Amino acid sequence: MVSRSGPLNGEVSISGAKNSALKLMAACILAEGTHTLDNVPDIADVALMAGVLEAIGLEVERPAPARMVVRHEGGLQPEAPYELVERMRASTAVLGPLLATVGEARVAMPGGDDFGARPIDMHLSGLESLGATFELSHGDICGTAERLVGAEIALDYPSVGATENLLMAAVRAEGHTTILNAAREPEIADLAAFLNRMGATVLGAGTSRIDIEGVEELRAVSHSVVPDRLEVATFLAALAVSGGELVLRNTRADHIELLIERMGAMGVRISPEGDGLWAMCRGRPHATSLVTLPYPGLATDFLPLLVAVLCVADGTSFATENVFAGRFGYVGELARMGARITVEDHHLVIEGVESLSGAPVRAPDIRAGAALLVAGLCAEGTTEVHGGEHIDRGYEAIHDKLTALGAHVERLET
Ligand code: EPZ
Repeated sequence: MVSRSGPLNGEVSISGAKNSALKLMAACILAEGTHTLDNVPDIADVALMAGVLEAIGLEVERPAPARMVVRHEGGLQPEAPYELVERMRASTAVLGPLLATVGEARVAMPGGDDFGARPIDMHLSGLESLGATFELSHGDICGTAERLVGAEIALDYPSVGATENLLMAAVRAEGHTTILNAAREPEIADLAAFLNRMGATVLGAGTSRIDIEGVEELRAVSHSVVPDRLEVATFLAALAVSGGELVLRNTRADHIELLIERMGAMGVRISPEGDGLWAMCRGRPHATSLVTLPYPGLATDFLPLLVAVLCVADGTSFATENVFAGRFGYVGELARMGARITVEDHHLVIEGVESLSGAPVRAPDIRAGAALLVAGLCAEGTTEVHGGEHIDRGYEAIHDKLTALGAHVERLET
């Protein structure tokens, strides 16, 4: 439950990135031994991925906050069961590592989700270029690969998931692999750093061309997960609608350059400070225009959060979603709170209002849920955000973190 809050003030520590941690966990399949991951967020999706790894035959422990130990002693059962994949499509990240390690993989075909169909055709065709073969049997993708041989793979679209699956397969393929039009998100570079520490040869991660020299052996190592830029965007959006002054610890300004520029246009003053960011906002957010694109463009995951801010901006704003068709499930919920948003295909026109009005609303997915929390901070009265389990998938104790900054947020156990 959220209600209008005065200015936020204080310091918040940003957790490790969900969208890196899940893939680093899958990469542990590639080497026997004991892997140690630090800065791993305590969120529901990480627990789900731990379940997938345990179903495959790895041991996962959390001996201390933000720390995870993954033990791999061979004897893998290369299957990711439907009941887990159905709850978390990121489970498909085990495809590449399993094919590279045991030469086979059986993963439930992920369904669609709130953004519509989420195909993995580029994952499969890229892995086929490396020598894998797939068949769809009773809803499962069954992949086999006697041996993986390096190839040149050009992605039609810089898919994050496809780039990661191909990376994790190519590090053990024979010979040289080149991925062209690779995704450039910071989480890709984080995965490549982990693989290189394990003994792989990955060059160019973070650019649109990645070269990989396959190796025979990889070893279990330690690694710390990159900070979550999506959590940073969430707190900056909360600041933008509430006003105040924040210090965000453990974050990387170089991962969010365009976000900093766009939030500046909205009136949020942001400066890198030490291992994080200082940010301040006074008065009503300014209207602006936003366009999502693959990294280094403005992330699609930022849009719901920024649209919540633009709902109370001092004019009319425009937003275009270019990554996921149909990722506007949150618009109807914001409209219930008095937001004036028109949807035109993959565009939004947002007419800023002085204030939203609190209402019971429902989160259809992680970032939409966070956006509704942000909207509740600038709404008259109380907002009940139902579907909190979606928020828990991607955020570690966000209500505690917001409350500590002065926000009026209460968790209702339903
Ligand atoms: C990752 O999803 C993230 N999830 C998403 O974050 C994020 O929004 C997305 O990247 C874009 O940055 C995780 O990392 C777990 P894509 P992913 O493959 O890998 C199409 C969150 O809130 N496509 O780059 O699925 C696809 O339909 C989540 O944390 C194909 O057509 O994203 C989409 O339109 C939400 N065929 C576009 O590409 C394929 O084989 C981008 O998808 C693969 C993708």
